[in-house]
This record gives sequence, structure tokens and C-alpha cells, in this order.
Amino acid sequence: MKALLADDPSLVERILDHIDHKTTDLGEAIWHEPVEHYTSAERLRAEVERVLRRTPTPFCPSAALPEVGSYVARAAALTPIVAVRGTDGVVRAFRNACRHRGVQVVDGTGCKKALTCRYHAWTYGLDGRLRGIPDEHGFPGLDKDAYGLVPVAAIERRGMVFVNQDELEIDLAYLDLLPDVFGPDMRLFTTIEQEFEANWKIVAEGFLEGYHIRSTHHDTFYPRQYDNINVIESFGRNSRVSFPYRAIEKLRPVPPADRKAAGVLTQVYHLFPNVMVATFPTNTVMVVLEPLTVDRTRLINYTLSALVDEAEGRAAIAHGRDFVAAGAVEDREMACSAQRGLASQANKVFTFGLFEGAIRHFHRNLGAAIET
Ligand code: FES
Ligand SMILES: [Fe+2]
Repeated sequence: MKALLADDPSLVERILDHIDHKTTDLGEAIWHEPVEHYTSAERLRAEVERVLRRTPTPFCPSAALPEVGSYVARAAALTPIVAVRGTDGVVRAFRNACRHRGVQVVDGTGCKKALTCRYHAWTYGLDGRLRGIPDEHGFPGLDKDAYGLVPVAAIERRGMVFVNQDELEIDLAYLDLLPDVFGPDMRLFTTIEQEFEANWKIVAEGFLEGYHIRSTHHDTFYPRQYDNINVIESFGRNSRVSFPYRAIEKLRPVPPADRKAAGVLTQVYHLFPNVMVATFPTNTVMVVLEPLTVDRTRLINYTLSALVDEAEGRAAIAHGRDFVAAGAVEDREMACSAQRGLASQANKVFTFGLFEGAIRHFHRNLGAAIET
């Protein structure tokens, strides 16, 4: 199959060419997105029910489930879901609601031999089967085989766990499109959750263009990065936006075939619809955007690194994470401000220019997915 994304030598070549000519990748047309799509509860319901719950969506990195019994429980598309690694090493996912009276059988993350509900202690195996009911004689005739945790489609691929909660199976052809963004040696260092007072699409848009680097990130990213110089690619409904560092200049004397992108640019992979994976010199960050309401989004930030767990490695990871966090504070301010701007009723549409082609790609595909 033809590679859908440029390899390192062609990517570096394209960026150096943009630097030389003061150009950047341009989309085909500008895009107008109705502001109503950021304020309408009906639209959010359609996004959640027709898209987020019906698309194979990265739920967490594989590294968040390092051993048998490791679990991650959280709401995905407003549904409590738990992913757990079984005794056979396979990751499964379930609707996180006890079959007795619905309490979440686990919260947050951890590692257990079995999942025991804290309300009345019904116990489920890591495969979801109901194994034990205290004082079982109180439930005469109850068929335990019919009371297992309710499974949802899940599969582990490319260093991530994908969940597709309202479909029976996960489309493997879709997963084949995805690049290997997480190597097998990547480990999870931190998981941080935040809430932004902004629509999830406004938060997503902030990741997908480099047109704001100088103005928004003047003292954080701009000293190291170019403003408005990006390579923008799409693969299926997903995108990859490359943001070069000034350090890319050191590759000019390197023979083109030997040029490596690692360390000289950040790449943001938008995995449709609501996950971003961003690469940095020491870390790779996976950010899941979970819409809560039309104007509130939870971000789950997983920071992974392949650096060894030594003091020096940890310091480099922490430094990289803090650097990214400083820029993320600025992005958050812009997202929340844009959200407040909706109340002004100044705009009927948001207008995305030719530099913002990955955002156009997102909105086109989201709109089409809602219609199907
Ligand atoms: S609700 Fe879980 S055991 Fe009763
Ligand atoms: Fe930004």
C-alpha cells in the first residue's frame, strides 16, 4: 500500500523549501463553520451519538495498561467505560456499570485480580464474567452467565487501545491507516486531567494550525519554532500537522536521504474525531478531548517517553512536559476566550483560512459523519 504520509526526507525537504520561500502548505479553500455548531445541545448530541460512539476512538495508550489486571476507567462520549488487560494479555473494554444496580465497578486507574463492585461486592473476572455474588441465595435462579459486564468493541493496535462503543466490531482497515506513533518501548509517565470551559471542537482546532505560534506563543514556542510554516497532510479522516523547530536548519548539510525528523519538529496527529497525539523531543503526548457539555471539555493528557527511568531521563521528561504545559496554558486561554466570544453574537460563522486546512478537513468529516 502506498504510504499515506510523507517519509522524513521528503518532509524535511518540503519544510526547508517553505523556509526558503517564506511559504507554508495551503488548503484548497477557506471554510465557514456555523457558530451554532459550538452552542447547540442538539448538535453535540449528534456528535456524541452518531460520531464519537460509533468511531474507533483511541481510549488510552497501551502503556497505561502495562500488566495483567491493569485498568483505565473513565467516561468516553459521556458513557462510563473501563478497559482492562486480561490474564491472557488481551485488552477488553466494558460498560462500567455493575449488573446489579449500576454502580461503576472501578474508578480511575489501577491493577486488580478481579473487579469487585464496592456497593454489594458482586465480583467480575478480568474477562467481565460475573464470578461471585455475596449471599447468592438471595437471587434464586439468577443465571450468572447472563450478568457479565457488558462488553464494547475494543482492540489494541499501534500502541493504543481503541474502543468503538456502539458498533459490534472495529474496522481493521481504518486501523491499518494509522502510523506507529508509539514505539513498543514507550512508557507512561503521567496522566493529567483538566477541564476547559470551551466546546471540544474549539479545543481541537487549537492543535491543528501553526498560524498562531508567534502571536499566542510568543515567549514559549516561538523562540524555538517557526510561525505559520507547516506541512499539513491527511490520511482518511485524520490529519498530521508538522511544526518545524528552528533547529531543522542543522539538517541542511545532511544528505537528504539521511535526514531524520525526530528532534527537529513537532508532529500533531489528529486521530478523528477527538484525539491528538503530539511528538516532542523527549516525550509523546496523547490528549483525549471528551465533550462534557457544549461549553465544557475534559482533556486527558497522557505523557509517554522511551527514555529510561533514570534520574536524568525523568528530569528531561519533566522539563519537556513543563515546556509544553506553558504553551498549553496559552492555548487554553485562547480556546476559553473564543468560547466566551460566542456569547457576543458577533459571528454567525467562524472563518478558517488556507493555513487552517486541517481544521477544514476535521469539520468536513465531522459533518459528513453526522449525516451518515
Ligand atoms: S450495585 Fe454493584 S453489587 Fe450492587
Ligand atoms: Fe497553540
